[in-house]
Amino acid sequence: MSRDTGFVLRGGALHAEGVALGRIAQAVGTPTYVYSTGALRAAARRFREALAPIPRKSLAFAVKANPSLAVLSVLRGEGFGADIVSGGELTAALAAGMAAEDIVYSGVGKTPEELAQALRAGVGHVNLEGEREGDALAATAVRMGVEATAMLRINPDVDAGTHAKITTGTSDSKFGVAFADAIGIFDRLARRPGLTLHGVAVHIGSQIMDLKPLETAYRRIGELVAALRARGHVITHVDLGGGLGVDYHDGPDGDVAAYGEMVARVTHDWDVTLMFEPGRYIAAHAGVLLTRVLWVKPGEECPFVVIDAGMNDLARPALYDAWHEFAAVAPNGATMRAHVVGPVCESSDRFAKGRLIDRVREGDLAVLRDAGAYGASMASCYNSRALAAEVMVEGDRFAVIAPRIDAAAIRPQSMPDWLEARRLGHAA
Ligand code: LLP
Repeated sequence: MSRDTGFVLRGGALHAEGVALGRIAQAVGTPTYVYSTGALRAAARRFREALAPIPRKSLAFAVKANPSLAVLSVLRGEGFGADIVSGGELTAALAAGMAAEDIVYSGVGKTPEELAQALRAGVGHVNLEGEREGDALAATAVRMGVEATAMLRINPDVDAGTHAKITTGTSDSKFGVAFADAIGIFDRLARRPGLTLHGVAVHIGSQIMDLKPLETAYRRIGELVAALRARGHVITHVDLGGGLGVDYHDGPDGDVAAYGEMVARVTHDWDVTLMFEPGRYIAAHAGVLLTRVLWVKPGEECPFVVIDAGMNDLARPALYDAWHEFAAVAPNGATMRAHVVGPVCESSDRFAKGRLIDRVREGDLAVLRDAGAYGASMASCYNSRALAAEVMVEGDRFAVIAPRIDAAAIRPQSMPDWLEARRLGHAA
């Protein structure tokens, strides 16, 4: 299946698989995230097939990219476990039916409660981001009378060559332990009762298109594995993280086949189970943000197309100057140059600047493409806006998998009694 499987023009109208997006807008309103099950599955299979040369592996979807239960459940069906970074994501992964032993728990700021929650659930791999965290996990495990299975996340000091805000493997980044300190920390943590350290983990960033930095990082990890084994440590797992990028224009995605070959080549004599944590590669193309044009108003150089989706719904352009293709749901062949902006009261609430887009008029439906990863998962209620609904499509059926929800319902408010008295007109 090509990456266009999910969203296609049919009879002049954009469809998600067999469902016209117009039908979804009518039933659910806008803005709404729409996911294609077929596109999700296709990407999951492409990823798995690319890793065919690797004998022992496990795949864990990075839940932060898209924590919808329906999405997680489709990926579980494709044999994926979950890479999580919070107690909330743990709850989501378990609710989607992922087995605890297929869950990897990364993140630099796990709280004591979250560490205990992970142990109670029996999470298969806790990726330790620092020595103190390892001490805390071991102590908690001993207290609970269980054995924690963990890996040590290494910061290989390799620049992933991606956007600075999504780079995680350089020495000034907060993630993992410094390469130079890794052996000492591993030695000490491995002696801790309650803790079985069975491997190391690395993740150098996201939206990586050039495989060289990944290869450099993996080679360093290979050296470390050999050094750890030479000291008597039993290393059964290496987590190679996620990070493979996709194309947000019309070009090719990160070369997953070349990635598989590179990994197979670099790791051929490691004799471990390799773990992978892709997020974006699996979900990005499988989702669009369906939106309606509210107004087209004149601007100095070109008009502003004001849509009903804002930076609170899709934060990536405002945060990383990310590009998401804007397309009409019923394109008429004409184009226009325009700024595409949302309703939020910030100038960064802009999806396109002076871009050539499908000609749209007020009331038209449109999509922001490739929004299946880090779209809904990063949404907020800024400007007291509702959280967009989410819909999943499979073939010719669709279902709301998350309803639109008002800001007030997400964050229930209460008044301090002294203000409440004043509000009601009583003397405070
Ligand atoms: N593993 C770990 C430990 C991670 O921190 C991440 C992403 C992944 C796996 C998955 O990476 P992926 O395969 O999706 O590149 N919000 C940003 C992306 C932040 C990625 C954070 N970590 C964006 O919208 O571009």
